[in-house]
Amino acid sequence: MLVLGVESSCDETAVALYHSEQGLLGHLVHSQIDLHAAYGGVVPELASRDHIRRLIPLLRQLLANSGHALFDLDAVAYTSGPGLAGALLTGAVFARTLSWALDVPALGVNHMEGHLLAPMLEPNPPEPPFVCLLVSGGHSQLIRVDAIGEYEFLGDTLDDAAGEAFDKTAKVLGLPYPGGPHLSRLAEQGDAAAFDFPRPMTDRAGLDFSFSGLKTAVMTTWNRLSDCSGSDVETDQLRADLAASFQVAIVDTLRIKCQRALQQERLSRLVISGGVSANRHLRSSFDAHFSQLMVCPQGSNQSVAVEVVYPSLEFCTDNAAMIAVAGSLRLEAGEQTGLAVEVQPRWPLSALSRPGATA
Ligand code: KG4
Ligand code: ZN
Repeated sequence: MLVLGVESSCDETAVALYHSEQGLLGHLVHSQIDLHAAYGGVVPELASRDHIRRLIPLLRQLLANSGHALFDLDAVAYTSGPGLAGALLTGAVFARTLSWALDVPALGVNHMEGHLLAPMLEPNPPEPPFVCLLVSGGHSQLIRVDAIGEYEFLGDTLDDAAGEAFDKTAKVLGLPYPGGPHLSRLAEQGDAAAFDFPRPMTDRAGLDFSFSGLKTAVMTTWNRLSDCSGSDVETDQLRADLAASFQVAIVDTLRIKCQRALQQERLSRLVISGGVSANRHLRSSFDAHFSQLMVCPQGSNQSVAVEVVYPSLEFCTDNAAMIAVAGSLRLEAGEQTGLAVEVQPRWPLSALSRPGATA
């Protein structure tokens, strides 16, 4: 089955071609960073208008690159939530119209399930059961995955998501939007031991997160010390030290909670996905720590080493390949969306079920 994937939930317009037997045939992403940079964040109305401008040229380019024609498509999968309502609608109308004109099924895909299943695009996809840490701009969740569509929530954020904390802290430090990657690059020039920021909620039981206090701790320190630092060089070093100390605190917190989840669930496989899984320090810290950790899986009396799986960098942040692969798994099980163009700006993963269960 040849599936076109369409992603337009926020500030990336993306299309992908995925074949259920041959795998990913191609994907394209247009980022709206330049469009929103002047405003310091995503402007929803501008995002929607730009998606409308980009979708058709991107699809034409994707088909030309892959040597496929529109009539080769067997189905269209599009992000129908969660995300910005207007932005979601542009992709939904585009995908639904195309599928109607071609007389092929269409399916609205959950964006977070797309992130969760992004590692399925890798040559050795992770087999459930596993623990998934989903860390994006709007989510920080720990999920037990027993099968595709069978998601048990273990922990969630009480306030800011991890990506949101990166972005807000970057803003405090005067870095451009989108803050996460900028802060991460700056942190490489800083001393991570310069400030001892809290590892929120690690001193008590449970798997929930809270990152807004960490952002405030950076802000208070920056406000207190930036006026006192004399030269520009000193201010730049302070900024880099704060970025590095913040990054190590957030990554430590995520790692501590992941270890707790693996031990609690007696699972030895950990999947990290969503935009923050692109963070270099997160990857090196998790790899170093978990390569030393042994867990005794349920039903076994022997400890095994923990395996950590990430999507390729290009599939960590928003893309349509993850929507196409998630859609393909459900379309193959007979799921499809009716003719009405509907989106779900709020759509928790817990509302999903196994592919085909609702077909
Ligand atoms: O998954 P994603 O592309 O979009 C959402 O579904 O939200 O995640 C975007 C988030 C942003 O908050 C961005 O700053 C963060 O992921 N991010 C990073 C890095 N790359 C993207 N955060 C830290 N380090 C990075 N390298
Ligand atoms: Zn996303």
